[in-house]
Amino acid sequence: MDMLEKANRFVEQNQGKVVNKYRLKYHLMGQYGWINDPNGFIYYNGKYHLFYQHNPYKSVWGPMHWGHATSKDLIKWEYQPIALAPDKPYDKDGCFSGSAIEKDGILYLLYTGHVIGDSEREDDYSETQCLAFSYDEVKFIKYDHNPVIGVDDIPKVISRRDFRDPKVFKKGETYYMVLGSNNADGRGVAVIYTSSNLKEWRFLNTIGNERNDMGNNWECPDLFELNNKDVLIASIQHFSDDGSKSHNDVIYAVGVFDAHEGSFKFKDCKAIDAGFDFYAPQTTIDEKGRRLIVAWMNEWNTENPTHTLGHNWAGAMTIPREVVLNGDKLNFLPVKEIKEYRRNEFLRKNISLNGEKELEIGGDCYEMEIIFDAKEADEFGVKLRTGNTEETVLSYSRQDELFRFNRDRSGIGPKGERQAKVELKNGLLDLRIFVDISSVEIFINGGEVVMTGRIYPSEDSKGIKLLSKGECNILSLKKWDIM
Ligand code: FRU
Repeated sequence: MDMLEKANRFVEQNQGKVVNKYRLKYHLMGQYGWINDPNGFIYYNGKYHLFYQHNPYKSVWGPMHWGHATSKDLIKWEYQPIALAPDKPYDKDGCFSGSAIEKDGILYLLYTGHVIGDSEREDDYSETQCLAFSYDEVKFIKYDHNPVIGVDDIPKVISRRDFRDPKVFKKGETYYMVLGSNNADGRGVAVIYTSSNLKEWRFLNTIGNERNDMGNNWECPDLFELNNKDVLIASIQHFSDDGSKSHNDVIYAVGVFDAHEGSFKFKDCKAIDAGFDFYAPQTTIDEKGRRLIVAWMNEWNTENPTHTLGHNWAGAMTIPREVVLNGDKLNFLPVKEIKEYRRNEFLRKNISLNGEKELEIGGDCYEMEIIFDAKEADEFGVKLRTGNTEETVLSYSRQDELFRFNRDRSGIGPKGERQAKVELKNGLLDLRIFVDISSVEIFINGGEVVMTGRIYPSEDSKGIKLLSKGECNILSLKKWDIM
């Protein structure tokens, strides 16, 4: 039996052993085992396809396969057979991250083949870029002449080890590939190649090497055009730790991409998500012309309770979000399709608040929109998933203009607090919050700031409490179950 068949059969036979307690209801997860980065995100032949880094056998990172799911609306996903297994000499230690593109009606995947050397050294590995294609969107055939970019095709200025995560796009008649790597000075860079046929690639340039404040390795870069500007995204390892940025490993920069030189000019970069769990995002453009982004809703080096408790799964994707240019910044909004899943609307207007107030409704799977008028209050916000001693606290402090997401008392699992600078708009703060069993996503002031995190409360911690120090007014509060 080949490796792909073995993996698919294993998942089929074992998915019943997954424990549902922390499984999400409207986010994509693996059927069994571990998932990390989104891969091959594309709208193709009337459907969204989302592949993902997948260890089908265990709820920890391991031999990377590509899992595969499809959707009509980005919310409800249908599992497809595993698409890639590490079954060739050039990808024997993992089919690492990559992307999808359509050419002449055929769906192509570009991914990184990870190969570990024979020595015992931890840094003895190499990475090359490989091609696979499909005629039926289910079965993927690896190209006979893989790798399409081998170790010998890597220019001297670039790492010969970390060289991965090809994101491919087309501009005019030319295909471009942007890869994550680092240069001889140990600075994170993106590397650009070009091709006319997806099979033969030519090195063009590197991006980001002038800067010494952007980590020592880049992963999963992305580059795209948005309203006549260009956007670069990178997942940065060992980001320079200046306090406010240390946790926000995924950055974006709005600038100008010169397709001829392969250069990207930008001034500064910003965090995409100021929460705990958001890494390796990938974007695509759909038939409506929307630029969509989805990320792994976890982080490296944090505990996954669904693994430690033996629930046989770990990892989930964020809600796909729409990327919108707002001056020189990006806003991120949950895709509008989610509105189709709203049920049981609850609506209150003009709640005057001073102190703490528990709502008569609650839940563990919902969307809530709250518009606060700060008035006299120094601090105000909302507590989610409350019960017994548990609570997840979202609060805004006026004096330091900081929004805080605190999960110290959320339940089991990782703890801590994340903060983001937020300015009130004419005294107002607008929160759109998505709770899904073990996740919280907060879209602040129309998606100017987004915070994402996983929490693991008890099943019966379903309360919602409003809080205010000094008087504030809640102009409106809407809540819907999402089902
Ligand atoms: C990012 C990453 C990628 C790599 C993949 C391996 O999370 O480290 O750089 O391709 O995960 O699973």
